[in-house]
Amino acid sequence: MSVQSKTLAIVYHSPYGHTAKIAQYIAKGAEKIGVAVHVMSIEHIEWDLLDQADGIVWGSPTYMGSVTGPFKMFMDSTSKRWMSRKWQGKLAAGFANSGGLSGDKLSVLQQINLFSMQHGMMWVGLPLLSTGQAETDLNRLASHLGLMTQSNNAPIELTPPQGDLDTAVWFGEYLALMLNRIH
Ligand SMILES: Cc1cc2nc3c(=O)[nH]c(=O)nc-3n(C[C@H](O)[C@H](O)[C@H](O)COP(=O)(O)O)c2cc1C
Repeated sequence: MSVQSKTLAIVYHSPYGHTAKIAQYIAKGAEKIGVAVHVMSIEHIEWDLLDQADGIVWGSPTYMGSVTGPFKMFMDSTSKRWMSRKWQGKLAAGFANSGGLSGDKLSVLQQINLFSMQHGMMWVGLPLLSTGQAETDLNRLASHLGLMTQSNNAPIELTPPQGDLDTAVWFGEYLALMLNRIH
């Protein structure tokens, strides 16, 4: 008898590719634990995969201290699913990228958190303690509501830095472990 693996969807918006890169590193981490991952941009949402996923991770760049306009449009397009409680009980988590060190991206995580709670989802944060503030450190931005990464408006080959990428892998592993524990 085969055991069905858990599935995690990762949904992001990423005009310049940094947030998409983080989505891929979260996926790497979850896949290490044996979870099946579907990574998709809000421009190409696969609704059936989202509806069937055991958990969904949302990621947005920070625009004027907020999720991007298109990400908000996506959030609003889920209202029929909100009404039917389609995603109730699924694991939810979030990540936010910004140009600045703070960039006010906590607000993005709070918006994504509230959106998930509106859907009745089960929020999972980032329990990892910061190992320091260098670009190679884990959770260098000391975020706990979700994953924060920073791209400094530099090319995606250079940013987010290695510590942020490693933190994304750690986050993916952790979310996969939580999925296996709660579902
Ligand atoms: C319209 C606009 C508004 C932005 N506002 C902020 C901001 O409030 N704080 C910040 O740190 N960076 C801000 N940035 C930089 C973006 O957060 C950064 O370029 C983005 O996270 C890169 O993600 P992406 O490569 O996935 O598109 C802004 C960029 C744009 C185009």
